Order: sequence, then C-alpha cells, then structure tokens
Amino acid sequence: MEKKNILTGDRPSGKLHLGHYFGALKPRIELQDKYNTYVLIADVQALTDNFNNPERVSQNVREVAIDNLSVGIDPNKSVILIQSMIPEIAELTVYYSNLVTIARLYRNPTVKNEINQKQHLFGNKGEGVTYGFLGYPVSQAGDITAFDGALVPVGEDQIPVLEQTREIVRKFNSIYGDTLVEPEHLLSENPRIKGLDGNEKMGKSLGNAIFLSDPEEEVSKKIMKAVTDPQKIKKDDPGNPDVCMVYYYHKLVNKTTLEKVCEECKKGTRGCVQCKQELIAKMMEFLKPIQEKRKYYEDHPEIVDEILIEGTKKAQLKAKEVMKRVKKSMKINYFE
Ligand code: TRP
Ligand code: SF4
Repeated sequence: MEKKNILTGDRPSGKLHLGHYFGALKPRIELQDKYNTYVLIADVQALTDNFNNPERVSQNVREVAIDNLSVGIDPNKSVILIQSMIPEIAELTVYYSNLVTIARLYRNPTVKNEINQKQHLFGNKGEGVTYGFLGYPVSQAGDITAFDGALVPVGEDQIPVLEQTREIVRKFNSIYGDTLVEPEHLLSENPRIKGLDGNEKMGKSLGNAIFLSDPEEEVSKKIMKAVTDPQKIKKDDPGNPDVCMVYYYHKLVNKTTLEKVCEECKKGTRGCVQCKQELIAKMMEFLKPIQEKRKYYEDHPEIVDEILIEGTKKAQLKAKEVMKRVKKSMKINYFE
C-alpha cells in the first residue's frame, strides 16, 4: 500500500515552546517514519495577522525550521517547505473561495476567537477584520490539499479549521468529480500543555512558557516561580502532586524518579524547593540535546537554507501534480 501523506504547519511568528513540543512536534517526529511528512512553514498565513510587521514573519521562518530540525525532524524523511514559495497554494485558495460562504467563515469558532483576541488589528467587535484573515481557513485547505494531505496532526483549537477543509474538499469533489483527498485530524496524546502558572494553556503571550531555546538561568527562574500545592507550606507538610504544576512537568520530562517524587510529596518527606531543583535538572537534561542541535544549525545557516531549498523543490513538484489534476477536473486545462 502506498504511504499516506501527513501535512502539518506552523505559523512563523515566534520561537516554539514546550506546548508546541508536546502538542505538535513530538507526534510529528514519531509519524515521519510511517508517512510521507510535509512540514509547512506558514508564512503566508502568519502575514494574515502580521501584514504590518513582515520582518517578524521573515525572521522567524528559519527559527521555526531550526526548531523542527533540532527536535528531530529529519530532512531525509520529511519535507520542510516555505508556504509562499508554492504559488499553487494561492491558486487553490482562489478556486476554493467559491465553495465557502462568508457566513460560514464567521461562524468558525477558532476564527471567531482569534478575531476577538486581535482587537488592535480588527477592532473591538471585529468590524475591521480583513478578507485575508477571515479567509485563512480557505488558504489552509490549499496547504493541505496541495500535498494530498490525508492526516493532519493538530491541537484541539485547530479542529474547526480542519473541518472547514473537509467541507471544502467534499464540495469540490461533489461538483467537479473525485479529485481531492479528504483529510482527517490526528489529535496528539497531549493536545494542550498547561502553563507554569496553572493556566490551561501554555502561551507565549501568557508569559507562562518554557521555550525550547531557554538557557538554564531562564528555565531555573521560571520553574522556581511555578505554582505548587497551596496547602503544602512547610517542607514536611504532606502535599498533593495532582494540583502541583511542578509535578505536572515532572510527568512530562522525568522518566526516572517520577514515582519517588509523587510518594515523597504525599508523605511529606520532600520540600518544594528541592523538588523544583530536581525538575530544573531534568528539564535541562531534556532540553540539552535539543539545544545542542539548535546550536549546530545556528552555526551552519547554509545547511538550514539548503534543507529549505531542497524541501521546497520537492514540495513544488508535488503541488504541480495536484494542480494539474485540479485544473483538469475544473475543465480549465486549456491547452493540454
Ligand atoms: N493554523 C495553524 C496554526 O495556527 C498553522 C497551519 C497553517 C496549519 N497551515 C496548516 C496547520 C496546515 C495544519 C495544516 O497553528
Ligand atoms: Fe509539588 Fe513537589 Fe512541592 Fe509536591 S513537593 S507540592 S510535587 S513541588
């Protein structure tokens, strides 16, 4: 049987943190052996809410590529590509825009949320939302279908956006004949990672994130401030690890002494300061290999460029093939 294609995307608007790692990057590393994996750096999509700040996008394209490479995306197995260099995606977006209503886009809960969060750009009630931002799910349908993406690993918040792709694909296939692959989502085991402050979500703008590139001093400062069991005041008070963010992170990165941490906390034989120091050590053990690889790529920008150029070339071939099929189905393949 032919391998299925996986398509994933990141907006290059900042460095990636542990939330991205456990929610999106880790599953993608495991999947690259089983599927043809395309990792799309979504610069066109990042511009929909950074159109007035293009440097932020262009500066982060290589950062996001390095983040992916340093956690284990292997350029010999996966294709890393830059969205704006695949004009077929923009072309598909134009054709798909006939297949979706404006009312449907406004109803998309993810888009609605994002518009609300971006009042500085789109006004208090979203009255100033742009055509481009409202339509990013249409362009995302282009991202996925341009590579026959069958599986899309996403966090929970992207499920409504993927649903929009599925609707567009079904409509396209019903009007123009069976042409496009209808993708399914693949929800990761840890779709959402909590912040150090106990917030349900780790987010760059929430100030509760550990970045993959954070040096030890930074990690240490952040973990020392993390929220612990508020009932455990003295070192020998018994604690409840289930309400402690330090324990929550031990569960993610501490593979060797987790049980001990839990037992000692419950018995009251472990103090929170010691527990945090141990977590810092475990966190650095986890981050070190990632940061060493990051440093290698930072020191060799020409290798990163080469990987992006090669990946984009491969992606161009695939997108051209899909575009040909699409034009044929739509009967706009005039001189073939
Ligand atoms: N919208 C995604 C996000 O904000 C990024 C993205 C762009 C994406 N294109 C994609 C995700 C295609 C999956 C498939 O995180
Ligand atoms: Fe949390 Fe550790 Fe303190 Fe228990 S001992 S409350 S697990 S920091």
